[in-house]
Amino acid sequence: MLSEQTRAIIKQTVPVLEQHGTVITKTFYRNMLGDNKELLNYFNRANQAKGAQSSALATTVLAAAKHIDDLSAILPHVEQIGHKHRALQIMPEHYPIVGKNLLRAIKEVLGDAATPEIINAWAEAYGAIADVFISIEKKMYDEAAWPGWKSFEVVDKDQVSSDIVEFTVKPDASSDVDLAKVPIVAGQYITVKSHPTRHNNEYDALRHYSICSVTSDRGLRFAVKLEQPRDKPIGLVSEYLHKDVSVGDKLFLSAPAGDFTLDEELMNQTEVPLVLLSAGVGVTPLLAMLEAQLLRNPERPIFWIQSSYDEATQAFKPHVEELLEKCESYEKIIVHTSKSSRIDDKFLKERVPGHADVYICGSLEFMRSMVDHFSTLNHKSDFIHYEPFGPKMATVKV
Ligand code: HEM
Repeated sequence: MLSEQTRAIIKQTVPVLEQHGTVITKTFYRNMLGDNKELLNYFNRANQAKGAQSSALATTVLAAAKHIDDLSAILPHVEQIGHKHRALQIMPEHYPIVGKNLLRAIKEVLGDAATPEIINAWAEAYGAIADVFISIEKKMYDEAAWPGWKSFEVVDKDQVSSDIVEFTVKPDASSDVDLAKVPIVAGQYITVKSHPTRHNNEYDALRHYSICSVTSDRGLRFAVKLEQPRDKPIGLVSEYLHKDVSVGDKLFLSAPAGDFTLDEELMNQTEVPLVLLSAGVGVTPLLAMLEAQLLRNPERPIFWIQSSYDEATQAFKPHVEELLEKCESYEKIIVHTSKSSRIDDKFLKERVPGHADVYICGSLEFMRSMVDHFSTLNHKSDFIHYEPFGPKMATVKV
């Protein structure tokens, strides 16, 4: 338990974090990744380049500072981040490196304002925050469907839109993974470890991809959008998977992870409709959710709202139609932003029932705008669930 004095100092630093948080975390990443090159095997350089990761870390540290009296208030955030850490195989021994560099960045940015009392209080607080993460992640490691990275063989590659490929993979005999015994929960993702050599890349690259289907008899399925590399690290892995990986090749996967999952109780009833709202490749986890809802209870009303740039980029078209045909009651709304306006609050007010349970997935920008629109409509916040493709904490207000 942190002393009262430490907690008081941490709370006093909240306005400073609000003002300088992102500068501190940018400095932190620059120093840490500069001095510990081996960590470049874990961090997504595209997220670094876009700045989303610095903003996500700053928001998390701020949330922890605000709730330093009772860190259990940030547990939902820790769970969501812990799933990512477990999927990336972040270990307890990594935490001191992060702690050391966070304190160093605080000192560097705040200068003389970072008194020894403030630095000592933050050192102590970081230890407490790290312990919360490590204990939640330990449970996740214990519960994972398989340990570490396992080798899988690509058994199928299917172009499901002009820029999205669905991969089907099966565990190698050497992997000792029996897919029939792996619980596949709609909304979860798997994490792929690859080592692309294009663009002079020297490091492993880890990426999360949503699982497209809860059935695994043909193999585990996930979808990858080809990111157009305007900036070098962006698109490194998707380009590798699309262009360099073929049927018969091997990929390393860690076990499914993630807490973006359907409300189990609501799946069984018919009063509260299920709204599945996606943009672009965000359709992937929602496709698995549609399938899971159908298998459990096809009578529940479903609103399928899928936005994409145009018809060519509208993924899984025939598959979605085939599944929706099996629903007792559904509405399908397709939005092509090349020829009609983007989804806004007026659209949501008219098309989404006020009492529906809503699952949203798309880019960070799409999520931010959907969450803002729903808040203006006063939709019950417990009934809005979302997973951006990118660090979620960059979209959260604490
Ligand atoms: C991701 C916070 C410790 C490595 C993240 C994210 C947050 C976060 C908010 C974004 C999650 C998302 O994508 O939704 C923290 C906090 C920590 C901590 C508050 C300490 C208490 C660590 C440690 C490591 C680490 C010790 C290992 C050196 C990573 C990596 C990612 C990540 C590799 C994915 C980033 C990317 O590639 O974009 N963390 N983390 N984290 N964290 Fe941590």
